Amino acid sequence: MKIFLDTANIEDIKKYAAWGIVDGVTTNPSLIAKEGANLEKRTKEIAEIVDGPISAEVISTEAEGMVKEAHVYTKWAPNIYVKIPMTSEGLKAVKVLSAEKISTNVTLVFSLGQALLAAKAGATVVSPFVGRLDDISQDGMALIEEIVQAYSNYDFETGVLVASVRSPRHVHEAAIIGADIATVPPKILEDLVSHELTNKGLKKFLEDWDSVKNKQ
Ligand code: E4P
Repeated sequence: MKIFLDTANIEDIKKYAAWGIVDGVTTNPSLIAKEGANLEKRTKEIAEIVDGPISAEVISTEAEGMVKEAHVYTKWAPNIYVKIPMTSEGLKAVKVLSAEKISTNVTLVFSLGQALLAAKAGATVVSPFVGRLDDISQDGMALIEEIVQAYSNYDFETGVLVASVRSPRHVHEAAIIGADIATVPPKILEDLVSHELTNKGLKKFLEDWDSVKNKQ
């Protein structure tokens, strides 16, 4: 499973890219706003650091405007996934962009029906938001299971990118289900790397080593 970083914070992107496990980055207008960043400048900075796909979201709500924005975004770097909202206008834009071989990430997906339509339009990846479904007492991971199964039934090439990840558990379940990608906020990556038994075990190894180091 690929791991993308779900942030527009440049220091975090540098830090976690250095771990060697970041396959791409996802941003959205809220993440860009949180950083007070300029979308073009920040997207270019991210693309300099990370080799894999960088998702940048369109602002237009009409297909024509989305396509125009996509044409601009894809000039910023070679590895841009244009993020398109899951609306009927979004589907029209994805169809056009897919014919032009421009990679798309269909975002704000909350149902299997939406995921099927996005795949039929030619989306490169879809982003079902598991955390936001959990927030309204629905089962986000159950949706991932359904999409992975349905795409496999019909050999759709569209990838499943698990978004709105709120806990390591979401990442574990995504991997068991066989999702293609999970996009993970920095805090969750920190939670994934650490385990109290690792820390305890390392402390003990180093203490024991200290007791014999003069004999080496
Ligand atoms: C990433 O592509 C999504 O925009 C992001 O994961 C949404 O996360 P949130 O629901 O925590 O805002």
